[in-house]
Amino acid sequence: MKAVVKISGSLFDEDDAADKIRSFAEVLDEFQERGNLVAAVVGGGRRSRELIELGRKIGASEDVLDEVGIDLTRINAKILISALRNSYPKVIIDLREAEVAWSLRRIPVAGGLSPGHSTNAVAALLAEHLRADLFVNLTKAGAVYDRDPSLYRDARALERVTIEDLRRILKGSFEAGTYELIDDVAVGIIERSRIRTVIAGMSAADLRKALYGERIGSIVVFE
Ligand code: UTP
Repeated sequence: MKAVVKISGSLFDEDDAADKIRSFAEVLDEFQERGNLVAAVVGGGRRSRELIELGRKIGASEDVLDEVGIDLTRINAKILISALRNSYPKVIIDLREAEVAWSLRRIPVAGGLSPGHSTNAVAALLAEHLRADLFVNLTKAGAVYDRDPSLYRDARALERVTIEDLRRILKGSFEAGTYELIDDVAVGIIERSRIRTVIAGMSAADLRKALYGERIGSIVVFE
């Protein structure tokens, strides 16, 4: 089984981040040690948003702010690499390098790659490039809802979602630091390569379930 996992940058913001990072790393290591191949992509979290905001206040251009975000994602990637037993030692900065890591049976860890999109897009691209059987997208929301759960108390988590559902929930904001649950670029890649995608929550338990095929969060279906 070949899987690509996107981990929200919020992992690195928590008070108990060290324990959480270790528990995520353990699930990834164990999955790989059982004969599977896994790659991880991490977001920038609060620190990237704060620094992007700082840069915006002093008038930096959006592409420069994206670069600031990418740098922060790569710092988070370095932290995750340190927690893994089976990691490729350097942060992945182009898609093909992840293939090299897999050929050495090492776990490639990436942050952002280029301005203009989010780490969700990077993860989808990596899943496409590596012909992964599964793309697991771990987000704070934990699933795709029929309506915005922060606005509607009766919002319902959807077990199965279509590409159209994903497009509907996109907020359409593409400023640096503001990409939401999933971005347009990621949805387009999932669609064109019909990547088996599961959107689940930010816990090691959810990650384990998603990797081992247990029902969790929302799964993208193609009609
Ligand atoms: P993300 O938006 O992906 O991280 O990257 P996040 O805020 O932690 O989001 P989640 O919770 O993981 O989904 C941080 C910023 O880095 C830039 C963007 O500005 C993005 O908002 N970035 C990231 C890029 O420009 N290109 C990339 O390939 C990745």
